[in-house]
Amino acid sequence: MSKFDLVTEKFASVPYMREAQAAALKELIIANQAENILEIGFYHGKSSAYIAAILEDQKRGHLTTIDLKTAVARKPNIHDLFDACDLTHRVTPVIAHRSYTWELQKMIHAGGQRFDFCYFDGGHTWDGTGFGVLLVDMLLKPGGILLLDDMSWSIAGSQYFQSKPALAERYSEDEAATETVRRVSELILPHLGYTMEQELRELRWGVARKARTAR
Ligand SMILES: C[S@@+](CC[C@H](N)C(=O)[O-])C[C@H]1O[C@@H](n2cnc3c(N)ncnc32)[C@H](O)[C@@H]1O
Repeated sequence: MSKFDLVTEKFASVPYMREAQAAALKELIIANQAENILEIGFYHGKSSAYIAAILEDQKRGHLTTIDLKTAVARKPNIHDLFDACDLTHRVTPVIAHRSYTWELQKMIHAGGQRFDFCYFDGGHTWDGTGFGVLLVDMLLKPGGILLLDDMSWSIAGSQYFQSKPALAERYSEDEAATETVRRVSELILPHLGYTMEQELRELRWGVARKARTAR
């Protein structure tokens, strides 16, 4: 059995990544020959396990994935999933004290554009995604792929924000109503020279490519 199928079989009930998303992710990774992958937001580690499985099935590549301590406290957590599939050699989990933005800073400071693919699935607010993609861009190779999840996300539509009225109230009505990931894709990515190659509406994904001539 492939590692990809093993992840599907073992973790069907673990949120979040669905099999249809994983199949599309596999196609994108293989079509773009992506080997050095960055993920923002691992939660239980399900999407991370799929990415590592896709790489393992090709016998190459590595995933670096970032989340908060709260994600590691989940049951099962990323370590449980990777141990169960014998995939730990394909991943470096990075545990952020406050935010992936600071962990990305450390990678930029260390130097080098090292990634050829980024799955961005954390912090969907204007500030989190806007600043996040700017930092990710500094780590992505020319021609690299930026896969944005939750293109239709908004604060007004977020169950998490609606369960925290004090937090939601900090945002104006127009900011709360705006699909902020989409707005980043419309305003910031073209400014950085990215092309939105596809929108996979049924998966709520946007696939953007960094210019091959970019620095
Ligand atoms: C939707 S979940 C990720 C799901 C996962 N990619 C999957 O498909 O299985 C989003 C994750 O982003 C993380 N996140 C949100 N804001 C963050 C931040 N500022 N720094 C680090 N992680 C963050 C959350 O802790 C959460 O685990």
